[in-house]
Amino acid sequence: MPAFGEHFLRAGFCEVAGAAYKPGLMSRILITSALPYINGVKHLGNLAGSMLPADVYARFQRARGAEVLYICATDEHGTPAELAAAEAGQDVRAYCDEQHAIQKTIGDAFGLSWDWFGRSSNPPNHRLTQHFCEALEKNGLIEERTDRMIYSLDDKRFLPDRYVEGTCPHCAWPKARGDQCDNCGRLLDPMDLKDPYSTVSGSRNLEVRETRHLYLLQSKLAERIRAWVDSKAEFPALTRSIAYKHLDEGLIDRGITRDLAWGIPVTQDGAPRPGFEEKVFYVWFDAPIEYIGATVEWAEATGAAWERWWRTDQGAADVRYVEFMGKDNVAFHTVSFPATLLGSEEPWKTVDVLKSFNWLNWYGGKFSTSGKRGVFMDTALELLPADYWRWYLTANAPESADSPFTWEQFQATVNSDLANVLGNFVNRILKFAEVRFEGVVPAGGTPGALEEKLFADVGRGIEALTASLDAMTIRKAAQDLRELWVVGNGYLTEAAPWTAIKTDPERAAMIVRTGLNLVALFSRLSAPFIPFTAGAIAGAFEQCPEGWPGADGRVELERLPAGGKLTVPPVLFSKVEDAQVAEWTERFGGAEAEA
Ligand code: 2FM
Ligand code: ZN
Repeated sequence: MPAFGEHFLRAGFCEVAGAAYKPGLMSRILITSALPYINGVKHLGNLAGSMLPADVYARFQRARGAEVLYICATDEHGTPAELAAAEAGQDVRAYCDEQHAIQKTIGDAFGLSWDWFGRSSNPPNHRLTQHFCEALEKNGLIEERTDRMIYSLDDKRFLPDRYVEGTCPHCAWPKARGDQCDNCGRLLDPMDLKDPYSTVSGSRNLEVRETRHLYLLQSKLAERIRAWVDSKAEFPALTRSIAYKHLDEGLIDRGITRDLAWGIPVTQDGAPRPGFEEKVFYVWFDAPIEYIGATVEWAEATGAAWERWWRTDQGAADVRYVEFMGKDNVAFHTVSFPATLLGSEEPWKTVDVLKSFNWLNWYGGKFSTSGKRGVFMDTALELLPADYWRWYLTANAPESADSPFTWEQFQATVNSDLANVLGNFVNRILKFAEVRFEGVVPAGGTPGALEEKLFADVGRGIEALTASLDAMTIRKAAQDLRELWVVGNGYLTEAAPWTAIKTDPERAAMIVRTGLNLVALFSRLSAPFIPFTAGAIAGAFEQCPEGWPGADGRVELERLPAGGKLTVPPVLFSKVEDAQVAEWTERFGGAEAEA
């Protein structure tokens, strides 16, 4: 296999941009959501803070006609993968194969519309990661250093990252991991931990031994990265505050290799690097590179070109790149990954908007796999269809602060928004049209004052929703959408076609047609959030308009051709009953379990 650098040069580093590309159009949008660790099915918090909002945004932009590439992948290296495989009693590669397939299936079932769901262990990421290290080294940004690392005498191995836990030197949290403290969020070095113990055996029989590692000299890049963050005017407040916190604390040089068996081998000039035969790259060095790696996987599978998404010398300067992630990932994406990209001195596309999220908590505390607290993606789908979760998690997105998941709030949101407001509306008007208008969109009648007000309200509503989605304010977008559903309900109640039909059938026909247009419009507007239901609603019409609507309420509410046949879909949402809440609280833990 050629070294990535050579392959790269041949494949087009020096080629001129493709002719089809139109500068300034800004209609190509690259979207990535943080790569979920391979170590098991993710919980609803992971979904709410990265993959789901990214999917909502991707669906919205596609509907608007943008050329979207939504990339995700499993993050398969490092101690999380090795520890989980060991716990499952499996070989790590076999474990990753199995878990990747599981995560892909569950993501699909949730309607996550990835254009590609790759794997950080795949060959493109190996080539790219090795290439980046070599490019950084050529630029004087890599140094070999002798490290003092924790060695476990009982486990007969070094204990990098998550192989060691102990007390956080900053906040005294007793279960801080070697790589990061979950309590205060600080990035750590295993040597920083107080009272360390091995997570393999629990042994405290540890000593410090010397080992050689590669360091990325982030300190040399500090000013460059600060200027880069300064230039990112579109970074939201949460992202900026985390980025500057880390920059202000001072960037330290980071070890980018580890004494582990599973990972990307360390090379030099395309061959194994002497002295590093038993080492691999650190997972946080190769993981973000997999955003590019997965794009290469996608390109190889589809015959598309990946360079126009990532190489600013090959068209990517006009790509809008948006990343979605939880707040614990922000430092890696505002400091470490830019250090890799900028330090390479190659023309890589960097992120334009980094949309970050707070935590979705389980009641007051954390989701916990081991403590069996909280709902995980696979179990969620056994309880209810994807759209119930998608709606709850977007309507209550942990955007401006951490937000708790509670069954009570889940029940209230589903019952009120989905069952009472949207579901009832759709069912009410379609049923009425079926019974009183022979199951077709009726002709006749002229809009009056009530409809004029509706057109104006709906126009304003579409404008607000479009702006919120554009700004990626997900919770606000869900509110805007719900507001439109409420407007539709209010109109139907006030226009009361069931009364009008007794005295003025023409007016009743016009109200029903307007109501049906509202239903079709709701299908289009709701599709980014609840795509399965939106599809079921669209299926009610012989011909449902498609794409993202414009902000002219009259135009959007006069789209359905009269005479088109209707099919009433089964009830869209059932209510969550008190008995279910009681059962699920018992099964998954709730407020009591927390105490
Ligand atoms: O926190 C996590 O789940 C990491 N696996 C995210 C990686 S994002 C990217 F850098 F790959
Ligand atoms: Zn801490």
